[in-house]
Amino acid sequence: MKSPSSMNTRTPLIIAHRGSAGEAPENTMAAFELALRQGCDAIELDIHLSKDGELIVCHDRTIDRTTDGSGAIREMTVTELKQFDAGRWFHEKYAGERIPLLKEVFDLVPQDIMINVEIKETYEGQIEERLLQLLRDSNRLAQVVVSSFDHKSLRRLKHIEPEVKIGLLYTMNAMDHNELADLLGVPVYALHPYGKLIDQEDILRATNHGLQVYPWTINTKDAMQQAIDKGVSGIITDFPGVLKQLLSS
Ligand code: G3P
Ligand code: MG
Repeated sequence: MKSPSSMNTRTPLIIAHRGSAGEAPENTMAAFELALRQGCDAIELDIHLSKDGELIVCHDRTIDRTTDGSGAIREMTVTELKQFDAGRWFHEKYAGERIPLLKEVFDLVPQDIMINVEIKETYEGQIEERLLQLLRDSNRLAQVVVSSFDHKSLRRLKHIEPEVKIGLLYTMNAMDHNELADLLGVPVYALHPYGKLIDQEDILRATNHGLQVYPWTINTKDAMQQAIDKGVSGIITDFPGVLKQLLSS
């Protein structure tokens, strides 16, 4: 995993949002494989819990939008979820893609690529326990940043496992972004602000405060360049290939 020293050289991490979600069906192995081929440093993905307690990689709480099936993930077993096609809705050439389990993504992604796991729902606190167990079993605690809009869930994670890295998701230009992190009362690894709602000065203050800053979702070259110029630590984008080119040029 690229070390935080990359922050000092102002080369932001390329963080593939839901994989290369602009060019492949989001949160599928195809999208993650494409992001890796395009040279991403990190992959962001979203998780939910299945009926049989597996961590499922999917953005929505139902599979309606991103598969040919329907229903809530929590009400289906892995065997049931795996029946559905998760690629054809995006393009015929991706027909046959299946909803991945988080452990399958861990098997695919090399250890030196950071994975940003976003907890979408806590399922009464059950998802935190399952996630920590998998992170320990797969030796991924150091290479994963767990983010969520649910800051209390992140604090619970950190209380249970102090080694876990947590990132705060939020959608507001806070008066004091560092204070948002300090409010948790446990060490926060990263801020994940909505890209349009953080100023250059706040980014500088946050990085000086020891925080990584990973804004989302930044998809145009102009917006990527602005984020680079503002000194962010990483950029969450649907087009990691475009960002790779921009950083190489
Ligand atoms: O983690 C950044 C971003 O993924 C948060 O929003 O809806 O794309 O999961 P969403
Ligand atoms: Mg997400």
